[in-house]
Amino acid sequence: PSHTLVDKFGRHVDYVRISVTDRCDFRCVYCMAEDMTFVPRQQVLSLEELALVADAFTELGVKRIRLTGGEPLVRKNILSLIEHIGGIASLDELTLTTNGSQLQKYAGELKAKGVKRINISLDSLDPQRFKQLTRTGDLQQVLKGIDSAIAAGFERIKINAVILKGRNEHEVLDLVNFACDKGIDIAFIEEMPLGLIDEHNRQLSFYSSDEIQQQLSQQHTLSPIDEHTGGPSRYYALANSHTRVGFISPHSHNFCHLCNRVRVTAEGRLLLCLGNEHSVDLRAIIRNGGDKAALKQTIIAAMDLKPERHHFELDDSPQILRFMNMTGG
Ligand code: GTP
Ligand code: 5AD
Ligand code: SF4
Repeated sequence: PSHTLVDKFGRHVDYVRISVTDRCDFRCVYCMAEDMTFVPRQQVLSLEELALVADAFTELGVKRIRLTGGEPLVRKNILSLIEHIGGIASLDELTLTTNGSQLQKYAGELKAKGVKRINISLDSLDPQRFKQLTRTGDLQQVLKGIDSAIAAGFERIKINAVILKGRNEHEVLDLVNFACDKGIDIAFIEEMPLGLIDEHNRQLSFYSSDEIQQQLSQQHTLSPIDEHTGGPSRYYALANSHTRVGFISPHSHNFCHLCNRVRVTAEGRLLLCLGNEHSVDLRAIIRNGGDKAALKQTIIAAMDLKPERHHFELDDSPQILRFMNMTGG
């Protein structure tokens, strides 16, 4: 029998983002505090527990799973989980969001084990600014990773760029031209206020999607593409190019009414909305001896908790204390 997950607002949930680790080799300024402490390993779901969670969701009608982190590719033996999920027959697609640092090593195997699409974060093409934004990242390594991903032949590759005023807003055109040269897509993201990051002022660094679009229209012709993937991105085609440009605009163009997704945090908390704390502890179910049927019942019941929308404010200290690396966005 086929099941579906539906929330109180009639939204169908057929997409799950699973964070496989809160750890990362980068420390992006908008994602983590400089002196991050990570969750003790035993509190993070094991690979077997992650596989069980993926099985439960797909048996409930979930068609797409995106693996996130932290950085998913720093998780030990992650390929075994990817192989497992890639082999679930009822799944339409397994996708991955990564910072690109490990792609030289992994791109080919990811593709072979069933990853369809891959999103790679890239906020700057200037080595020094890249270092400032990621604190520990190496631009050359990521650029080589992007080339490895292209060579591996994924169905689609998308660059994610978080644009911050006073940091990288001058690179918008360069980033788009980079994506065009490589024949891949790009999405520009308005920063979301998650976690308390003292050394970074989110109000001052806000840069809207409309400002980005204005910059682009000086050099490019953008036409909207009618594509409702249920993802938050609004996509545009660029004239004379295969590249599609997306805008993820949680502040300026709310997309919550289209939401099709839930998340599982690295600690196994089923999070019903990125911008709220409504959640259910799946790890407790599993570790208290619950089987897959119990897990599925818990997931079905949790749909009633999904809130209507996020209420991100930039003029306050963040309402959400959890950092982005617990959910991978
Ligand atoms: P697909 O929908 O799978 O194509 O990918 P995506 O673009 O949503 O995924 P990705 O991991 O690349 O995330 C890009 C940005 O979108 C990140 O900043 C995420 O935090 C953000 N994002 C994704 N889904 C949601 C959502 O439901 N709500 C909010 N507020 N942000 C989201
Ligand atoms: N706001 C918006 N996007 C963020 N990301 C990380 N932290 C934030 C934030 N505070 C992005 C990363 C990555 C994606 C998963 O989420 O750049 O591309
Ligand atoms: Fe790591 Fe991604 Fe967070 Fe950057 S945004 S610190 S790459 S998890």
